[in-house]
Amino acid sequence: MAERTELIEQIIEQASAYVIDPPGDDDPVISLASPEELIGAFSHSVGLGFANESPASNDASLLAAVEQIIDYSMHTSHPRFVNQNFAGPDPISVVGDWLGAALNTTGATFEVAPVFTMMESAVLSKLGRMAGYIDDADTEQGEALLPTLPPGLFCAGGSMGTLFALQLARHRHQPDVTTAGSNGDRLALFVSDSGHYAATKSAALLGIGTSGVIKVASDHTGAIDPAALDAAIDQTIADGQTPFAVIATSGTTVTSAFDDLNAVADVCEARNLWMHVDGCYGGSALFSKAQAWRLNGVERSDSFVWNLHKMMGMTQQCTALLVKDPERLASCFASRADYLFQPDKLNAEYDSGDRTFQCARRIDVLKLWLTWKARGDKGFAERIDHAVAMADHTRARIAASDGAFTPVVAGDFTNVVFAWVPPHLRPLQLDDPSTLPAEVRDELHSLPPRIKARMQADGSAMMGYQPIHGLNTFRMICMNTTLQTSNVDAMLAIIDAAGSATTLHSDL
Ligand SMILES: Cc1ncc(COP(=O)(O)O)c(C=O)c1O
Repeated sequence: MAERTELIEQIIEQASAYVIDPPGDDDPVISLASPEELIGAFSHSVGLGFANESPASNDASLLAAVEQIIDYSMHTSHPRFVNQNFAGPDPISVVGDWLGAALNTTGATFEVAPVFTMMESAVLSKLGRMAGYIDDADTEQGEALLPTLPPGLFCAGGSMGTLFALQLARHRHQPDVTTAGSNGDRLALFVSDSGHYAATKSAALLGIGTSGVIKVASDHTGAIDPAALDAAIDQTIADGQTPFAVIATSGTTVTSAFDDLNAVADVCEARNLWMHVDGCYGGSALFSKAQAWRLNGVERSDSFVWNLHKMMGMTQQCTALLVKDPERLASCFASRADYLFQPDKLNAEYDSGDRTFQCARRIDVLKLWLTWKARGDKGFAERIDHAVAMADHTRARIAASDGAFTPVVAGDFTNVVFAWVPPHLRPLQLDDPSTLPAEVRDELHSLPPRIKARMQADGSAMMGYQPIHGLNTFRMICMNTTLQTSNVDAMLAIIDAAGSATTLHSDL
């Protein structure tokens, strides 16, 4: 097969140019195209589809296709991309990911991933110490820095980490579950009604069933009500179910609320329930001296899932599942495949593959290790502090907007949930949307989708909306390191203009 070195070099050049200088202030966040328009555009290069007999495309048309891929993709590093709880990656993470791909191996065994196995040990040990799972007392050198059995594993995303954690919890509840299957207990797990849907999906997959997921009431901000948790546990016992685990959320997806982990730990310890912390989003607060208090009590949990591909700017995906008792990983997941995990081979004790569900596993640690070494703890802390500062600025601008914007859940971390209020409805309090007259509610509810469609059409900003307390509201997620106060101001002005236009012309 011809090497096509020139093509490879030119694609690397295109990709590098994008990484080093991605679209910014003067560019659109997205060049919106419908599926039909995308099909039409690519028909001028290599075509999107594959016919039965697909020929090899030439260099020029492939390079044109790469341009199109870049042009029509979402520019997540753009300062006006505040749509989701991930954003543009740290460029060092991107090249770390490329290097990992170039060295294409699996993290399953030491023999094929010697460096990466040690890196996983190093990073998981550091994360475990930050979470208080490993005693920090004398770790400046020695085994604790690079343990043979690290306190967790890397896995393919937060939902997968939740699934694994719940399997560990079920294994503690019933140690023979992996061989005998369910003993018939109708298991119940608890998560707040603001928690992530990974809990429900995991319960469905594990055979617990979605009816075993008890959604506990949260307060106005989205944090779990510990008294409601206690009451819900009593109720499920009365209903004949068997509680086995509680998921506490550190950084909810919509309002970035933090459950009181000590309060949840009190409940779990009193009732001998597995405590899992979903820190997929907010776990990274631990990097900041000013924000780490939000996870006080995490050290009392049994497992903790942490997406470094959210606030820390790692390319997707980069997820650590930390566990208090790492021995349980092998007892829960090992299958002892003798062609791979030969106990008598060199350094077999370092193999991580039999401590997880996955067989082949991407090298997600390299990009994190490289970026962390390049930025240091201080650089990582600055990411978090900058994000919170931008959210504080958003809250201040909303408060000073003369009623053009009103907070729904202002929060105090990185997410601000708010509404744009049409001039004829100002001033309007939206702490409790359920008290609004129906016609006001309907009008407000219809606005965010229409305003967002306008912003997408002209590529001016990407901001999510979702129903909260039953009302469609905007969610500004301040996480992009490129986001500055001027961008926050610009986006509020864009919403104001789009809102005014959409209420004048109800077509869009
Ligand atoms: C709080 C929370 N938990 C879990 C997840 C799931 O993580 P992943 O998308 O990596 O599966 C998310 C994703 O947004 C999340 O916000």
